[in-house]
Amino acid sequence: MSNNINLSRRQIITGAGALSMGAVLGQIINPLSKAEAKGGDTEKWPWPYVKLDPTQTAEIAYHEWYRIFCGGAVISSVFSQLREKVGGPYKSFPIDGFMFLEGGVSGWGTICGAPMGANLVTNLIIGPRITGASDGVLMGCEILEWYGDTALPIYVPKKPRVPTKKIPKTTSNSPLCHISVGKWMKAADKPLKSAERRDRCARVTASVAYHLVTLLNKWKDGKYETEGEIPSADFGITAQYNCEECHGANVPTPPGGDDE
Ligand code: HEC
Repeated sequence: MSNNINLSRRQIITGAGALSMGAVLGQIINPLSKAEAKGGDTEKWPWPYVKLDPTQTAEIAYHEWYRIFCGGAVISSVFSQLREKVGGPYKSFPIDGFMFLEGGVSGWGTICGAPMGANLVTNLIIGPRITGASDGVLMGCEILEWYGDTALPIYVPKKPRVPTKKIPKTTSNSPLCHISVGKWMKAADKPLKSAERRDRCARVTASVAYHLVTLLNKWKDGKYETEGEIPSADFGITAQYNCEECHGANVPTPPGGDDE
């Protein structure tokens, strides 16, 4: 008796499974119906930009760090303002979903969330490579390089949450969170969980947001000339420029690279 019931339940489940499988297959063959494709404002790149005040943006980024950390804070500093001034796709963009960029992506010390967030912003506003708008990629590239070359943090918040008179500035020579945070911790002699280290990262986030909006404003005025260079184009391998810091004097040549 109960077997029969189970069997019929299984049949029903199989039937439903087959139905949804058909729907899934339909989606694979015809990924988006016209209505679905039209409905998503967010899928049309690039997104509209209006000029923003760099100081105000940096202030938002600084305080947002304490809520959603570096990557989320840079995105929020620009997109929360554009939600008000432009609306459209910015309204449905899930800013808080980018909190995971914290600590170089889930604490793994890979890319610092601040330049990563800035790359997301430039990519959506100027457009990705597939649209032919290489400027978006190159502005992101430029920000990665600037991040490594600059003694950070630069931006001093109006009302610092940690009242330190002088905060050490360090040049990471790398966009990696591990290296950037590590060099600063060494210079400041402060542990990861200290209020000072946290405030340093909030200020770095604000510094990146300030720089990002300065570049975007220039671009909006038609005055932006990129300084971004894609490392893989020069080296034949995806990389950061501080090769010797990791490899020492014997930097390997990738297959197909020039032996000089
Ligand atoms: C953050 C540290 C780091 C930086 C910066 C870095 N590398 Fe590497 N690279 C590594 C590690 C670790 C490996 C894997 C171990 C190995 O093979 O040496 C590697 C592997 C390689 C390889 C392939 C494996 C090999 O040994 O031949 C090449 C080629 C290479 N790197 C070239 C470069 C060049 C050129 C640059 C600068 C443009 C660079 N790397 C920057 C850490 C780094």
